[in-house]
Amino acid sequence: MSETVLELVEVSKIFNDHSSNRLTIFQNMNLKIKNSELVGIIAPSGTGKTSLLNISGLLDLPTHGEVKIIDNNTRALSIEMRNNIRRKHIGFVFQSGNLINEFNAIENVALSRVIKGYSFLDSLGYAKKLLINVGLKDRLYSRPLQLSGGEKQRIAICRAIANDPKLLLADEPTGNLDKENSQLIFNLFIEMVKKKNVAALVATHNLELIKKMDRVLILTKNGFKEMNQ
Ligand SMILES: Nc1ncnc2c1ncn2[C@@H]1O[C@H](COP(=O)(O)OP(=O)(O)OP(=O)(O)O)[C@@H](O)[C@H]1O
Ligand SMILES: [Mg+2]
Repeated sequence: MSETVLELVEVSKIFNDHSSNRLTIFQNMNLKIKNSELVGIIAPSGTGKTSLLNISGLLDLPTHGEVKIIDNNTRALSIEMRNNIRRKHIGFVFQSGNLINEFNAIENVALSRVIKGYSFLDSLGYAKKLLINVGLKDRLYSRPLQLSGGEKQRIAICRAIANDPKLLLADEPTGNLDKENSQLIFNLFIEMVKKKNVAALVATHNLELIKKMDRVLILTKNGFKEMNQ
């Protein structure tokens, strides 16, 4: 069944710059993403892609407007309730990776499943399967500092999906990857979205990935423009 997983209603973001001037990054953003839908966002650097993903993933509040996750209007919720929705329903691939350096690959991936409430043992087994699936069989026990950028990015993607999210948000997920690994990651995304009914919103400059999206939106200061593919 098709359900709206993420809805943005008239969302805007205003930051204060270094001299406390109000800086409108974007305004009047409206968006609906359903399960099984892979949506791309493109825009030049500094336009607000990361800001929009952070707001959609409940890591930041919009200045105006509403963010709805599976029918929960999150504006009036406490920080704790927002965190609970994120842990349960959202997977995030950060632009910077953001792995925990003290944990090895399996532990980094398993953590998001443990936080959702699965047992430690189940989570380790699940993490191992995901990592093997992205070609990291020989790196399961390596820590981030012992790994390449592309390997870390693959771990970050496994971590984002380890809690079986309903909404997957990814910020330049193939930024550090070569062509072969980018391909692997696209396939993993498509598999998640289509087989597991996930809604995915992906900011990327990667043309190969853009070709595989169901819809591509150009982010502008005053809303999204649909890109004709
Ligand atoms: N906390 C903040 N305070 C003030 N300005 C901010 C803050 N975070 C981001 N900005 C500004 O908001 C704008 C949008 O930033 P954002 O990181 O969302 O862009 P982006 O589209 O993701 O860029 P990139 O492609 O380089 O990652 C930028 O001009 C940035 O300098
Ligand atoms: Mg960014």
